[in-house]
Amino acid sequence: MNKIEEIKKLIEEKIKNVNSLQELNELKVEFLGKKGLITEVNSMIRDIPNEEKKEFGMKVNEVRTLFNTKYEEIKNRLEEEKINKQLESDAIDVTLPSTKVSVGAPHSLEKLIEELEELLMSMGYDVVEGPEVEKDLYNFELLNLPKGHPARDAQDTFYIKDDELLLRSQTSPVQVRTMLENVEKSPIRIICPGKTYRRDDDDATHSHQFTQMEGLLVDKDISLSDLKGTFDIIAKHLFGEKRETRFRPSFYPFTEPSVELDISCFNCEGKGCNICKGTGWITVGGAGMVHPKVLSNCGYDPKVHSGFAFGFGIERLAMLKYGITDIRTFYTPQDIRILEQFNRRDVL
Ligand code: DAH
Repeated sequence: MNKIEEIKKLIEEKIKNVNSLQELNELKVEFLGKKGLITEVNSMIRDIPNEEKKEFGMKVNEVRTLFNTKYEEIKNRLEEEKINKQLESDAIDVTLPSTKVSVGAPHSLEKLIEELEELLMSMGYDVVEGPEVEKDLYNFELLNLPKGHPARDAQDTFYIKDDELLLRSQTSPVQVRTMLENVEKSPIRIICPGKTYRRDDDDATHSHQFTQMEGLLVDKDISLSDLKGTFDIIAKHLFGEKRETRFRPSFYPFTEPSVELDISCFNCEGKGCNICKGTGWITVGGAGMVHPKVLSNCGYDPKVHSGFAFGFGIERLAMLKYGITDIRTFYTPQDIRILEQFNRRDVL
């Protein structure tokens, strides 16, 4: 019995000094292990007279319960302390300055295309795509440019297979594709941005690969004034409310009449400067009323349907809008700062 009392005291004393889970476990071995103090007194029960056995047994149980209760208590406390310490060291100080994360910026061509898409979609146009490897039939023939037509020369073309397969020299074949897919259905309102290719020598204003955006509207009773109104909205949207627009007579085999799309110079307000070459006007694209032959080539009756088409050179628009002087800037690896400028809201 005395021994049990001693063990009790020992438990109280020792457990106070425990500072880690490891020490706690060592203590458990010391008291409850195979050769532990409590295990030892427990085995003494054999040598105790029968009438005292019950009380002795109860005392042993008492001391075991005491140890276990203390053990659980200390274990919980130590574990909680451990978690708190970890939380403390993992804590984030939100007041510290952050490291600078550099954010990507859209390419200037992409930005301009998106801007045009958004505007024209709001006017009911769908954005469609066509293949860059195109049939001669769609790139030229059905657009009223039969083989041997002199206007083909202006589009020095990369041929891939004989005379039939080429890298499209313009986005206009998408007009043909769209009309053929929708035969006699109207209205058709589409724009088609995409890559185009010509066998040009690269210099400040030429690139063998460039970007165009085609527009096509086919309906009934469409006139040149519809084209003028649409162009006016696009010009003002891109270059400011003060822009005036004009048509200049031109020639394209797939439109009749054909026009050049001019805007009043945004740099000199029409007085004449080096950007507009003293004329006060800048040409930004070509357009016209869809040629009756093109309509009938694509299954539309020109007596029932009429339409207009337009084509913009995206690089040219971007060069004007962002003041870029060399087309190669778009394709050579760019100084990240050039791209970053297009994240700024104050860019024209
Ligand atoms: N495809 C012409 C070119 O590459 C641009 C163009 C002019 C497109 C007039 C048109 C248009 O749709 O009507 O030079």
